[in-house]
Amino acid sequence: MKLLVTGGAGYVGSVCAAVLLDAGHDVTVLDDFSTGNRYAVPEGARLVEGDIRDVIDDVLSAEHFDAVLHFAARSLVGESMDVPNEYWQDNLVVSLTLLDAMRTHGVTNLVFSSTAATYGEPDSVPITEDAPTRPTNTYGATKLAIDHAISSYCSAYGLGATSLRYFNVAGALGHAGENHKTETHLIPLILQVALGYRDKIMIFGDDWPTEDGTCVRDYIHVGDLADAHVLAMESNSPGTHRIFNLGSGDGYSVRQVIDACRAVTGHEIPAEVAPRRAGDPAVLVATSAKARAELGWNPSRTTLRRIVEDAWSFTEDLGDRSHAANS
Ligand SMILES: NC(=O)c1ccc[n+]([C@@H]2O[C@H](COP(=O)([O-])OP(=O)(O)OC[C@H]3O[C@@H](n4cnc5c(N)ncnc54)[C@H](O)[C@@H]3O)[C@@H](O)[C@H]2O)c1
Repeated sequence: MKLLVTGGAGYVGSVCAAVLLDAGHDVTVLDDFSTGNRYAVPEGARLVEGDIRDVIDDVLSAEHFDAVLHFAARSLVGESMDVPNEYWQDNLVVSLTLLDAMRTHGVTNLVFSSTAATYGEPDSVPITEDAPTRPTNTYGATKLAIDHAISSYCSAYGLGATSLRYFNVAGALGHAGENHKTETHLIPLILQVALGYRDKIMIFGDDWPTEDGTCVRDYIHVGDLADAHVLAMESNSPGTHRIFNLGSGDGYSVRQVIDACRAVTGHEIPAEVAPRRAGDPAVLVATSAKARAELGWNPSRTTLRRIVEDAWSFTEDLGDRSHAANS
């Protein structure tokens, strides 16, 4: 199939683009490099450089695409609270522009990167797709609004779409992995300590009502996540909007993640306990039973050890490559 991947220079988009190319699809990446990395666009993909707002009409009018996988977004939770206007513009308005261009040019198949942040603080865990959606930050609110827009475009205009609500994405697939310009995610931050780029990792609270007192989160391997995108795209049906949670179903505490990183890297990785951060739920774990049953999704890289091993090989490899490039 001929596919347009927005945000294909970013972490998740670049891994998915690589997996789609491997599966024999024709892939065009559309990215403005606002947070993505030029090297991350996989070999074999065509590249259109630009902001979706400026170029999407030209891209979709120049040739027909069978489907769009829409990863492009801003996704820093704290920043979204400081500059909400920018998040509404860059997430919601950009996505509406994309939806309208798809409608104009007859592209009826969409896979959208939604997020666990659409749920906010859960009443109970594991979180199912019918849990209340009460985002606690602007980022989550913009993604929920896009999910609502997609639903109405599906009912009214015959779009066939899937929103995938990711929990904490981690790990890497070979040369494709996580290297955000502003890193806020736990595993890459811990690995930066292992590499000596940071002195220590902070643990925000060790008095939560969990087994070891630290927060528990659900980590999903980016390779398994990419497989779900392929399955979703292949099974989208006009007029239907499906929503699936994607997590591993298992929660790991911050201390367990730090210990796994120590075991994999062989580094000491100093950690320091700081007070709880406002708005952090104690436990966020998804059930992905619906994705397994309806998409036939069968994640295979579900252990924390495997996720950390793959993230570590990518991080070490990236360090070697940037060292080689600078020497
Ligand atoms: N990484 C996670 O753990 C996680 C969890 C839940 C949801 N998500 C969602 O998954 C998607 C990908 O996340 P990521 O971690 O890969 O982020 P990322 O920042 O690495 O990738 C986003 C990409 O989109 C591009 N982009 C942004 N706005 C654009 C625009 N207007 N036009 C063209 N390109 C644009 C950026 O340059 C970047 O390459 C996002 O939508 C994010 O909200 C990520």
